[in-house]
Amino acid sequence: MVSSPIKPEAPVRHDVKDLSLAPLGQQRIQWAGREMPVLRQIRDRFEKEKPLAGIRLAACCHVTTETANLAIALKAGGADAVLIASNPLSTQDDVAASLVVNYGIPVFAQKGEDTATYRRHVNIALDHRPNIIIDDGCDVVATLVKERQHQLSDIIGTTEETTTGIVRLKAMFRDGVLTFPAINVNDADTKHFFDNRYGTGQSTLDGIIRATNILLAGKTVVVAGYGWCGKGTALRARGMGANVIVTEIDPVRAIEAVMDGFRVMPMLEAAPLGDIFITVTGNKHVIRAEHFAVMKDGAMVANSGHFDIEIDLATLKTLAKEVRVVRNFTEEYILPSGKSIIVLGEGRLINLAAAEGHPASVMDMSFANQALACEYLVKNKGQLAAGIHPIPAAVDQEIARLKLQAMGIAIDSLTPEQVEYMNSWTSGT
Ligand code: ADE
Repeated sequence: MVSSPIKPEAPVRHDVKDLSLAPLGQQRIQWAGREMPVLRQIRDRFEKEKPLAGIRLAACCHVTTETANLAIALKAGGADAVLIASNPLSTQDDVAASLVVNYGIPVFAQKGEDTATYRRHVNIALDHRPNIIIDDGCDVVATLVKERQHQLSDIIGTTEETTTGIVRLKAMFRDGVLTFPAINVNDADTKHFFDNRYGTGQSTLDGIIRATNILLAGKTVVVAGYGWCGKGTALRARGMGANVIVTEIDPVRAIEAVMDGFRVMPMLEAAPLGDIFITVTGNKHVIRAEHFAVMKDGAMVANSGHFDIEIDLATLKTLAKEVRVVRNFTEEYILPSGKSIIVLGEGRLINLAAAEGHPASVMDMSFANQALACEYLVKNKGQLAAGIHPIPAAVDQEIARLKLQAMGIAIDSLTPEQVEYMNSWTSGT
């Protein structure tokens, strides 16, 4: 049932923290694999059919137990894959070690790597001369387009995992520089309805709790952004007894938050009320100097958006007279007034920095989409126009069907009479 390790024949290229962590990583990869039945079925089929044979693939993802199961499935499908981290703080070093030692997959990722190392790893991914890029945040694709134009002829296409990456791809397309197909995995129904909402919701609170061990009940939690990630975060914070305030810039989302029962107000009004602030907007400087100035002593700020710029930490650093580490992933910024602001996970994705990211059961569907998107790109090589393509609806439906089946849940199907009714316009009042 669990993914069986292979013994690599040749030394596997890598830049990981400590290869001796491999046994722990392998145990955890297999544990996550138990909750990924859809990806497992795809892996088993890939093993037989080898749809990715001969394909050089570079994956830039959070190096977690779930990503490991994706990488193993891609390798089973015949891909010659390398994996790098999509964030300097999200790598699980034991998983990185196990992928190298037990599964023969080159990995370049170390938790806490600095920006120069992160950039070096992006370039190593591109040195692999990929035909397919799996990106999470669009850093590899942006580097390819900015600095490696000569490699464009190698590219069959890319797949993008996250909202921020899709925003960047759309900007690239508008600027006329996206010259190959990009599959929008993020917006598949079986991805964002579950991963962005329930995955981010649970894992964000998990990260905050692991970092601080605070009780959420009775606290005022301010959630900035009411996209799918914000909805999940607000929902789960309320579920644990917090009083939740939502801030938004989109009027429709703001009404939705109001009708979902949350208080909605501008950040400047929320700032003096909040005990814990969580940014999930995809934008920059959502919490900035004017907000820090009116926050309570001891207010905590955390980010669960892709990049570490949602909280203006650069300014907070200049304002603080002292910064000290008070727990793992928890820093106290002391302002000249004596007031403290507590910053979690250095403003990076708190769910991956201080916890383990989204649980395997939701990543199962996200990564099933990724694996099938790669297969789709190969099958349609040369046929897809440059630009952003949705996951085909049939793929989305099939993933949902397989997930339900794995959960042992049956659903109804339309009767012939209902099919006819749904296809007709003649019957009415
Ligand atoms: N993004 C959020 N959670 C993740 C996880 N567990 N693995 C990979 N990418 C993620």
